[in-house]
Amino acid sequence: MYCTKKITEDLYWVGANDRRLAMFEGVYSVPRGVSYNSYLLLDEKTVLFDTVDKAVGPLFFENVEHVLNGRDLDYVVIHHMEPDHSATFLELLLRYPNVKVVCNQMILTMIKQFFNKDLTDQAVIVGDKGEFCSGKHNFTFFTAPMVHWPEVLMSYEHEDGILFSADAFGTFGALNGAIFADEVDFDAEYMDEARRYYTNIVGKYGEQVQMILKKVHGLEIKMICPLHGFVWRRKIESYLDKYVKWATYTPEETGVCIAYASVYGHTENVAEIISSELRDRGIKTVMFDVSVTPASEIIAACFQYSHLLFCSTTYNAGIFVSMEELLHDLAAHNIQNRTVAFVENGSWAPTSGRLMREIIGGLKNMTMLDQTVSLKSALRPGQEADIEALVDAIDKTIHKFEAPKVDEAKMAEAEIDPKTFQKFSYGLFVLTAKADGKDNGCIINTGIQLTSQPNRISIAVNKANHTHDMIKATGMFNISFLSESAVMDTFKHFGFQTGKEVNKFDEHIPVSYAHSANGLAYITTGTNAYMSGKVVDAYDYGTHTLFIADVTEAVVLNNDPSVTYAYYFAHIKPKPQEKLEEERHGYVCKICGYFYEGDELPADFVCPLCKHPAEDFERVG
Ligand code: FEO
Repeated sequence: MYCTKKITEDLYWVGANDRRLAMFEGVYSVPRGVSYNSYLLLDEKTVLFDTVDKAVGPLFFENVEHVLNGRDLDYVVIHHMEPDHSATFLELLLRYPNVKVVCNQMILTMIKQFFNKDLTDQAVIVGDKGEFCSGKHNFTFFTAPMVHWPEVLMSYEHEDGILFSADAFGTFGALNGAIFADEVDFDAEYMDEARRYYTNIVGKYGEQVQMILKKVHGLEIKMICPLHGFVWRRKIESYLDKYVKWATYTPEETGVCIAYASVYGHTENVAEIISSELRDRGIKTVMFDVSVTPASEIIAACFQYSHLLFCSTTYNAGIFVSMEELLHDLAAHNIQNRTVAFVENGSWAPTSGRLMREIIGGLKNMTMLDQTVSLKSALRPGQEADIEALVDAIDKTIHKFEAPKVDEAKMAEAEIDPKTFQKFSYGLFVLTAKADGKDNGCIINTGIQLTSQPNRISIAVNKANHTHDMIKATGMFNISFLSESAVMDTFKHFGFQTGKEVNKFDEHIPVSYAHSANGLAYITTGTNAYMSGKVVDAYDYGTHTLFIADVTEAVVLNNDPSVTYAYYFAHIKPKPQEKLEEERHGYVCKICGYFYEGDELPADFVCPLCKHPAEDFERVG
């Protein structure tokens, strides 16, 4: 039975997952499986982007047939000829004999090599910057040699801003129901597998990856569709940033990746002591036993960390076999720009240090530390100084900021005056959202521009607000910038009642409003601008959620000055009646003026009108 995913209005994922494969490419363990992605576009012409591995052929063909829904397949675009994406190509030709093959000359040659088929008459040849149109959708092709084979093409779809990136931006791991990277906690759950995938599959070809990154730089990429793993539609810049680091062999983290080969545990013991001392100095470490850890994991960690420590016993007058394999593998993957240290062991003739140094010394921009620790069978008394010297040498190459000395007791007694928070020069905004066909809004003072490339803002919203839940569910909001011409009624209307109980956009609304391109309301009375946000991240901070959003629309309505918190208190919020204040004993909400009568305001008290907490109350009387 078919299992497909809709990606955009016209584009469908028709790939499949393999969770039984033990070794990807016969080399890399994939305990969490792997996905083979193929995409099908329904336009005036139907276009399939790549096929899949033979292991998942039956489901793939069911998927294609289901999405085509009786239509013929007009085109298949081949981006990459490695059989994990092309093994089912021949069967595709048999099932859809009229299909035209969009590819480059090298792909056409490889089709002949793999399948003994000359498709010259059936081919639409596209080179670098070649163009293709399927009706509503226009494509530009980019050659991407050695990412990961020489024939590789990428293509860019102009209308929806989609980059079909071949192997690039892929990850190991089957798709378990989710298709978009933002549907999972990618950083926590998949980034290690993405790094292991990149470094082992294309790590060697950093220069070529840099070239294709330059080629696509400047394109408005709104979505990336790779041949393995998730489709990217959010936080694309942060994933691109990882690719720039990996492609330029720039460490992601300052820390030491320790790989050791130890037959009887003595070399491991020294690796442990060094790791422990580095940690005591605040230096991050990770440790791998090369005898039991797949080399692909250690290679990924070597790309991640700034410092590498290799510890190996001497074996048959050489380097221990699994360590020697690892080092040659690392060299083959072109690792560069690292600081490297060694520990050697040998009961009668330790040579592994010199030999490891020879392999790593041949690589680009490697800083080799001289302080090799040399063991004869085991660490002997007095050799602590050797370890100290090596740890010192690593420590000296790591810049660490020294924190100021803190008097904890003085810190604990330090005053926190709530009035200080009013010194922030906050603006004030009507935050609006829409769900179930209903507009709603509340007042916030936490709108901040985060970055300008891309245009990104943050808002913190109290979870007690109905608008909060609407944004959480829909991922969309508007903020209307209140100006000095705003009146108290606006604050009362949006701030002192909840959308859970009243419809704030019914006929009693005291302001005029309109709807922006995203369909949400914005306020046009007492405001000077509005902005629309599309949520890209949300962080839970107890009472509030911090939403990070891309700006999808931003319009200036007039040049009235924006209202500040201070202006609101001085000129908009009504002054308390001083005489009455003298007679009353209790606490008044500084935000909305609600009066709580009593000697003691409970610490967890929340204003029933504006939902502000106890710290926003001041004592009167
Ligand atoms: Fe996923 Fe280079 O093949």
